[in-house]
Amino acid sequence: MMRKIHVLDTTLRDGEQVPGAKLNLEEKLEIARQLKKLRVDTIEAGFSASSPGDFEAVTRIAKTVGNDGGPVITALARAVKSDIDAVYESVKFAERPLIHIVLGTSSQHLDKKFKKSKEEILSKGVEAVKYAKKLLHEVQYSTEDASRSDFEYLWKTIEAVVKAGATVINVPDTVGYAVPEEFGELINKLNYRLKNLNDKVLLSVHCHNDTGLATANTLMAVKNGADRVECTINGLGERAGNAALEEVVMGLKTRVDYYGAYTDIVSKEIMNTSRLVSNLMGLDVQVNKAITGENAFAHSSGIHQDGLLKSRDVYEIINPADVGCEEMEMVLTARSGKHAFRNALEKIGFQLDNEDEFAELFDKYLELADKKKEVYYHDLFYLANIFMIEKH
Ligand code: KIV
Ligand code: ZN
Repeated sequence: MMRKIHVLDTTLRDGEQVPGAKLNLEEKLEIARQLKKLRVDTIEAGFSASSPGDFEAVTRIAKTVGNDGGPVITALARAVKSDIDAVYESVKFAERPLIHIVLGTSSQHLDKKFKKSKEEILSKGVEAVKYAKKLLHEVQYSTEDASRSDFEYLWKTIEAVVKAGATVINVPDTVGYAVPEEFGELINKLNYRLKNLNDKVLLSVHCHNDTGLATANTLMAVKNGADRVECTINGLGERAGNAALEEVVMGLKTRVDYYGAYTDIVSKEIMNTSRLVSNLMGLDVQVNKAITGENAFAHSSGIHQDGLLKSRDVYEIINPADVGCEEMEMVLTARSGKHAFRNALEKIGFQLDNEDEFAELFDKYLELADKKKEVYYHDLFYLANIFMIEKH
C-alpha cells in the first residue's frame, strides 16, 4: 500500500537563517501563500521568540495562510516557557496550529553546550512538552543532533516525550553527519519502537547538506519508515542548507514504486515557488541544481539531442512540465504584442484582471525587452513579482 509522506517546509525558518536572506513581512506572506498553493502539509513560519518581526510574521501567516483549509502552521521554540508561549501566541490563530520544541540529545550538546547531565536534559524536555500540551494538542519534539546521539539515550528521550504528549517526533541530522545507509537503519529502529509505543505519532526527519547528502538521507529515511520530511525550497538553510523540497518530492515521484510513497505536493508549482524564493531572498539558484536549475532540463550535446528527438525518455526521467518548467512556445521580444505577453504571464501564474495595472506592467516589460534581446520566463517572473509586491 502507498504511504502518504507529509511535507514540512522550513524555508521561512531554517531557510531564512542564510546570511543576507532576510525577508520583510510582505515577502514572508508572499512565500507562505505560494507554499499553500504548492500544498505543503506544514509551514514552519519562523522562530517567534527571536524578534518582534518574526513574531508578527508568524502571527500574520497563521491568521491568513493558516485558515480556510490551509496547512498546519508552526514555529520553533527552545525548551523554555517564554519561547513556547511566544509560539503559542503567534500560531494559535491558525486552524491547525503546532508548537515545535527543540532540545539536543548528543554528548556535544549535553556536555559542551548545556553542561548538564542526560537526566537533567531529559526532564527539561519532558517538562517543556507537558507545558506546551496545556496550550495546544499538537506538539512536535526535535531531538537536535540526533544522528550523533547515543541510540539508547535518544530512544529514552523519545519515549519520555511521547508519553508526555508529543504528537510528532523529528529526528534531525543537524550537522549533516549522517550517511544514507546508517541513517536509514537509525530511522528503521526508531520507527519500529515508536509504532509499538504509539502508532499515531508521526516520525519526521530533518537533514542538513554539509556533505551533500541531505536529499539521499531524507529519501533513505522515507524508505525506512519516516512519515514526514522537513525541507526547504532550493535547499536553502543553515550553512550548506537543508534537504531541497523539490529534490525529495521529485525523487519520490520519479521512483514511486521503489519508495511506495507519495506526497500531496502540486509539483507544477515547484518552479514558480523556486523562482519566488530565489528572487525575494536575492539568492540565485545554481544553473546545474537538480530540478530547479536553469540547465536541469537542457540538453546540449548532439548525441543527447539526437536521442531526445527519437524519444524523450532516452535522456529524460522527468517531464519538465511536471515541475512547471514550461518550454517557451514563443520568444518574447520588444516586438511581442500584449496578447503574447498576457499569455506568458498566465503561464507563470500571474492573472492581471485590472487593465490599468496590466498596461503599466506591459510598459515595464517593453522597457526591459528594449534592453535585452529575448525575455525569458525567469525575467518575466521577476518583473511581475516585484510589480505585484509594489502594488499590493
Ligand atoms: O537542524 C536542526 O536540528 C534544526 C532543528 C531546530 C530541527 O533546525
Ligand atoms: Zn536545521
